[in-house]
Amino acid sequence: MTAPVQVSGLSHWYGRGALRKQVLFDVEVTIPSGEIIIVTGPSGSGKTTLLTLIGALRSGQEGSIRVLGEELRDARPRALEKVRRQIGFIFQQHNLLNALTAVQNVELGLRVAGRASSSTLRNRARHMLEAVGLEDRIHHKPEQLSGGQRQRVAIARALVGEPAMLLADEPTASLDKNSGREVVERMKSLAREQGTTILMVTHDNRILDIADRIIHLEDGHLSTFTDAVIANNRQMMKMLAENRKKQKLEKVVDDLDERGFKELLEDITADSQRLLDATAMASDVAFRSMLRQGLFAFTRKLGQLLDAEKASLFLVEGDSLVLRIAENIDQMEEVRIPLGTGIAGAAAQSGEVIRIDDAYEDPRFNQEIDRQTGYRTRSIISLPIKDRQGEVFGVAQLLNRKDGQPFDTNDEERFDLFMSSLGVMLETLEGLDPGSLNDDRDTS
Ligand SMILES: Nc1ncnc2c1ncn2[C@@H]1O[C@H](COP(=O)(O)OP(=O)(O)OP(=O)(O)O)[C@@H](O)[C@H]1O
Ligand SMILES: [Mg+2]
Repeated sequence: MTAPVQVSGLSHWYGRGALRKQVLFDVEVTIPSGEIIIVTGPSGSGKTTLLTLIGALRSGQEGSIRVLGEELRDARPRALEKVRRQIGFIFQQHNLLNALTAVQNVELGLRVAGRASSSTLRNRARHMLEAVGLEDRIHHKPEQLSGGQRQRVAIARALVGEPAMLLADEPTASLDKNSGREVVERMKSLAREQGTTILMVTHDNRILDIADRIIHLEDGHLSTFTDAVIANNRQMMKMLAENRKKQKLEKVVDDLDERGFKELLEDITADSQRLLDATAMASDVAFRSMLRQGLFAFTRKLGQLLDAEKASLFLVEGDSLVLRIAENIDQMEEVRIPLGTGIAGAAAQSGEVIRIDDAYEDPRFNQEIDRQTGYRTRSIISLPIKDRQGEVFGVAQLLNRKDGQPFDTNDEERFDLFMSSLGVMLETLEGLDPGSLNDDRDTS
């Protein structure tokens, strides 16, 4: 079966002459049947324009727009109309008819779709209004409804005809958290049960998880994976969470430059922070899995950025430090050091960063681990990681600068900066599920 939406090489301009301005650039999108695609992007990036082009509400200027089997570029009005009739629309502004009651407005959705018999029209419209929580407003006119209630009538009208495709522009913008969730859940079941294809523009981070795929528009360009990763933290979280193969995630992180990496960390930190604050999300398996994978990728990346041969991470468990992240940790026996012993243990106990030029000169250094791993440690930065209460709950460690020089204060500062971001993330993980760093390391 061909995909209901196949857009390629789509460019679009508004205005004429000197005022002519390009707002879409060579956009490519394919949406398979029954998929939910979310479009994100800053205000003015072209999201609504893309939606109206796909919805046959505006004619295409360049490129191909195939929707529900019709080529919309240069299409005749009849063909456009035919496509439009199979689509449910929900707009930023709801376009209800003021002279009609809520239930009459919803019935219009059925008449346009031209499917139901007249006896069932009213019932189906009622049911749909109930589904969006408006059972006690059925006979109100739009002017007697609040903004959010009007929006829900518009949603009911778009869904009641069980359209082949649903185009929604910020459908949950004026809804509270619970009604927003209900509305998207309804859309989702429509997609699953009727194979309705859904393209939805939203700024609402709380509903991104219903998407099969998220695309990001920035100044009229659909952004690449990595751009989007940096541009939109929530979207990134979702993508990372879906991208379960550790390998791939590491590749993404490896490809970032220092600035990109820092932004990514800040985004994740902000999200972790929010997660800590919102216990409702604590059961979010995808989020946790993402954090866990992120940790491996990030610790490795830190090693790279600071030109260290090794980067590792210990977590405090009881009165010991346990090595949780290190290269080849799978092949190693568990490394467990009592607090206060070794360099990492000393850093954990004192809460101070320890930087050492030559480990073997320092009496605190435990050469036993080198003997176990066959490695020769020279310089070390050992950095305590603290939770929001200031308690040390882990130690991050860099070993041996690749150029053979000892680590300097600059390395120490950068390491500290990055780790303080990672701290929140680690705390989130540990808080959610003690020992969660241990299990399914290679979630795939
Ligand atoms: N009818 C129009 N005539 C001229 N310019 C327009 C028209 N409609 C939109 N634009 C411009 O095209 C660009 C994209 O607009 P569009 O409405 O697609 O953005 P958007 O991503 O939906 O933004 P928002 O998140 O604010 O709804 C903007 O710069 C906008 O000013
Ligand atoms: Mg818009």
